[in-house]
Amino acid sequence: MNILLLGSGGREHALAWKLAQSRICDKLYAAPGNPGIAEEAELASLDVTDHGAVTVFCEERRIGLVVIGPEAPLVDGLADTLRGAGFSVFGPSRAAAQLEGSKGFTKDLCERAGIPTGAYERVTSEAEAMAALGRFGAPVVIKADGLAAGKGVTVAMTVEEAEGAVRDIFGGKFGEAGAEAVIEEFLEGEEASFFALTDGSTIVPFGTAQDHKRVGEGDTGPNTGGMGAYSPAPVLTSLLRGEVIEKIIAPTVQTLAREGMPYSGVLYAGLMLTREGPKLIEYNCRFGDPECQVLMMRLESDLGEFLLACAENRLSTLQPPHFSHDTALTVVMAAQGYPGTPKKGGHIGGIAEAEAEGAKVFHAGTAVDASGGLAANGGRVLNVTARGGSVTDAQAKAYEAVDRVVFPEGFCRRDIGWREVEREAGSQSAKT
Ligand code: AMP
Ligand code: GLY
Repeated sequence: MNILLLGSGGREHALAWKLAQSRICDKLYAAPGNPGIAEEAELASLDVTDHGAVTVFCEERRIGLVVIGPEAPLVDGLADTLRGAGFSVFGPSRAAAQLEGSKGFTKDLCERAGIPTGAYERVTSEAEAMAALGRFGAPVVIKADGLAAGKGVTVAMTVEEAEGAVRDIFGGKFGEAGAEAVIEEFLEGEEASFFALTDGSTIVPFGTAQDHKRVGEGDTGPNTGGMGAYSPAPVLTSLLRGEVIEKIIAPTVQTLAREGMPYSGVLYAGLMLTREGPKLIEYNCRFGDPECQVLMMRLESDLGEFLLACAENRLSTLQPPHFSHDTALTVVMAAQGYPGTPKKGGHIGGIAEAEAEGAKVFHAGTAVDASGGLAANGGRVLNVTARGGSVTDAQAKAYEAVDRVVFPEGFCRRDIGWREVEREAGSQSAKT
């Protein structure tokens, strides 16, 4: 069948790479795509906010499956429009995508379903927020309710910082996304991500990962969309994974179905592994970026079959997916200035050399420049991804590949995977 993939980042390049290998895929289209995705798919210039134009494209190209990569079109209800027109879609409805589109929606759902998460209050004005801060004290977490491109969350160590965050939100810094906010208990522990496919009834675990959100080495500096990730996350032991499914994922899927907004697509749970067990920090209604890149690097099953079965409500008919036991690790190469204003146009070379030893370089923010060469065109530019028998090994291979990439106006963290590398060194020395 023909498949249409929507999106243009490193996540979508990884999805395109696997979909192009799928037995069910005759022709892959992608919109708007990027130069890396163009190696796997025919690019179309579609505006995803124009639901009518996307529908016409699907009719004309006889699309059998639409895969929606990013959250914005899902929260905007594109999956509903396309399903209404008779197409199979991978991705949740507008109602179910509120799991990512509204922090308050998710917190209320957790309360109704008894899902472990931090204590919280929803507030709709600065005065209400300040009163709530008085009850929580510091440290405390302040979140703009809506989509804020990962920038709407402040983990405040002092009350002054928390008050500043509240003023930012209700002063309009996040526009509509900040008409409402959540004040939340600060959770302590290690963070990890859990992925599951669901068609609203069947739940298929689809890998674990850990990412590095801060721009600087040692997890310092401002937050970003993610500077690197690895999969699997060994901290999520099989015991903990069982607990996450039972106490967090299953009640979410069941409650949404019961309340008339069944979730179909990938559920990405951001977890805090606290002393009392795993607690939900947040849900995303799409694959993580760059977590998707490491999941796809390990996936040995046919991605297209899984996404189609999910879209057609028949996940229960598939065997569980196979993921390599190897670790995959990805290093994000970003343009100078990121996560502020990234410098555009920096020349990129050496990708073939980086891939010569088996690494895969996914394009995130790249463009073809006037001379036909490759140039930076975004904050996160490349995701240099490698596999190895351990995190230490995958890390070494990823950085070998990074060192072959020529991108003088870019930078990357040199310590992706450091927690696990330290733990592996510890267990190594414990053995000897
Ligand atoms: P979110 O967008 O909700 O994932 O928040 C972004 C980041 O803020 C998370 O990855 C955590 O590092 C941090 N964070 C969010 N909520 C909490 C919380 N309740 N306690 C501690 N850290 C949090
Ligand atoms: N890497 C974090 C995210 O995709 O939300």
